[in-house]
Amino acid sequence: MTDTFKALVLNQQDGKTVATIETLGDADLPAGDVLLKVAYSSLNYKDGLAVTGKGKIVRSWPLVPGIDLAGEVLESNSADYAPGDRVVLTGWSVGEKYWGGYSQRQRVQSKWLVPLPDGLDAYQAMAIGTAGFTAMLCVMTLEEAGVHTDSGTVLVTGATGGVGSIAVAVLNRLGYRVAAVSGKAGAEDYLRGLGAAEIIGRDDMNQPARALEGQRWAGAIDTVGSTVLARVLAETSYGGCVAACGLAGGADLPTTVMPFILRNVSLRGVDSVMCPIDRRKAAWQRLVTDLPADALGEIGQVASLEQLPELAEQITEGRIRGRVIVDPNL
Ligand SMILES: NC(=O)c1ccc[n+]([C@@H]2O[C@H](COP(=O)([O-])OP(=O)(O)OC[C@H]3O[C@@H](n4cnc5c(N)ncnc54)[C@H](OP(=O)(O)O)[C@@H]3O)[C@@H](O)[C@H]2O)c1
Repeated sequence: MTDTFKALVLNQQDGKTVATIETLGDADLPAGDVLLKVAYSSLNYKDGLAVTGKGKIVRSWPLVPGIDLAGEVLESNSADYAPGDRVVLTGWSVGEKYWGGYSQRQRVQSKWLVPLPDGLDAYQAMAIGTAGFTAMLCVMTLEEAGVHTDSGTVLVTGATGGVGSIAVAVLNRLGYRVAAVSGKAGAEDYLRGLGAAEIIGRDDMNQPARALEGQRWAGAIDTVGSTVLARVLAETSYGGCVAACGLAGGADLPTTVMPFILRNVSLRGVDSVMCPIDRRKAAWQRLVTDLPADALGEIGQVASLEQLPELAEQITEGRIRGRVIVDPNL
């Protein structure tokens, strides 16, 4: 007889998303070549949209959400993984199309997994989670575009969010001067603690910009989109780069071509979901060396599966600071 375990399950009733805690067995889990014991998952903006039903994230019902997880292999039909191996999983449409991390056990495809690098445990991996992994991809993107520590200040928008918090901490650790944009009252101590040298109110950046504004930023990591991203582009210095990964403020981009054609500014998109496996491994390795361990203590709070519906509401309203680590075993 297999053990039973609990999971948060999303169903659709009368066009509405309903989230319930259910007791499942291994036979209820989807097909896959690896069975995992989930140690931790996390709450990302996309999870908030899925659990509340506010965004069209879920593509297959019923669904166990949770776009990332870290844990241990229990059973494996893959030559690459054996029972006891510690792994991390982000993206690949897990928690959207495929069952994800809000469960004590999950069956997944081994090709989605990354071995947990030495120096990170499962808790730390999910304190980082998809958000922190994406922040690292953004930092790597700026480096590849030639934005170096002596280039000038790097701006991070949505700075108290999951991506933003880890981006600030990593950039500071690497030696960049970091400016942080936040709409949260009282965020200054938190952001300075992570290493921000300058704090800018969201209202200041959320004003429509002229085609070109004064040159302020050597580079930027934008998690917000829309009017804020348009202003960031107009304020980016000659030859600078903006790594755009998010849409917390909107999916539109009311800009002109002027920053691109007169200032040689580049706008680079960053996607974590379909990121190739070698780049994933490189980013996780960089997170071991370039993210100060004490920053994670500052950034993280732990939640149970039962707390997720309420926290999901909060993250979609921009009310969460830092990262929520989900412990399905609480
Ligand atoms: N491309 C990818 O692969 C990828 C991966 C992960 C995340 N993302 C995207 O990146 C974004 C951030 O994700 P996250 O997990 O860090 O979310 P999060 O924790 O909710 O952080 C988003 C932050 O954006 C700011 N914000 C919220 N609403 C806003 C608004 N209306 N206008 C301007 N700023 C607003 C808030 O920060 P302040 O209060 O400090 O301003 C909020 O904390 C999301 O859009 C998410 O979908 C994309």
